[in-house]
Amino acid sequence: MKLFLDTANLEEIRTAVSWGVIQGVTTNPTLVAREGREFKSLIKEIAELVNGPVSAEVISTEAEGMIAEAEELSRLHPNVVIKIPITPEGLKAVKALKARGIRTNVTLVFSANQALLAALAGASYVSPFVGRLDDAGHDGIALVREIAEIFSLHGIATEIIAASIRHPLHVVAAAQAGAHIATVPFRVLDQMVRHPLTDIGIERFLADWAKVQNLPQK
Ligand code: E4P
Repeated sequence: MKLFLDTANLEEIRTAVSWGVIQGVTTNPTLVAREGREFKSLIKEIAELVNGPVSAEVISTEAEGMIAEAEELSRLHPNVVIKIPITPEGLKAVKALKARGIRTNVTLVFSANQALLAALAGASYVSPFVGRLDDAGHDGIALVREIAEIFSLHGIATEIIAASIRHPLHVVAAAQAGAHIATVPFRVLDQMVRHPLTDIGIERFLADWAKVQNLPQK
């Protein structure tokens, strides 16, 4: 199980990389727009910071446009992976990009059939959106489990990225359900590392240590 960071914020990426736990980054148009920066230069900078795949999403809705955007984005850095929404045009683009050796992450996946089609078209990654399914009253983790079962039964090499992660329990559940990767917002990564008993433990150790610091030498 790997962890990616779901952000386009350079500061968050630098911090997470310094912790040594992040093996990739996913972005989307909303996350990029939040940064108020030119898209391609931002993606290039992110890809230089991270030793692993960096997903950059296309905006076109026609395969031809998606392919043109993908070719341009993939020239920015070898780490760049092209994020493509699951639509019939998206599938066409995934197939064409696979033939050109360009890796894709098929996004906005809300059903096992969508994941299967993406894999059959040649996607390197599929991204089921766990939190958005939960928000709509469905079970996002159940979808991750279903996709993992199908991929494993049929020897499909496409990796599953559990996306739209809202809290630390989603990460544990996604790992148990067979996701290869969870992509998490920085806030969730930060919540994952913290525990009140750890803080209390450190405080007590330091207090006890301080008590015996100025003892007379024997
Ligand atoms: C995935 O790659 C997406 O960027 C992301 O996980 C979407 O999450 P959201 O539902 O919090 O917007």
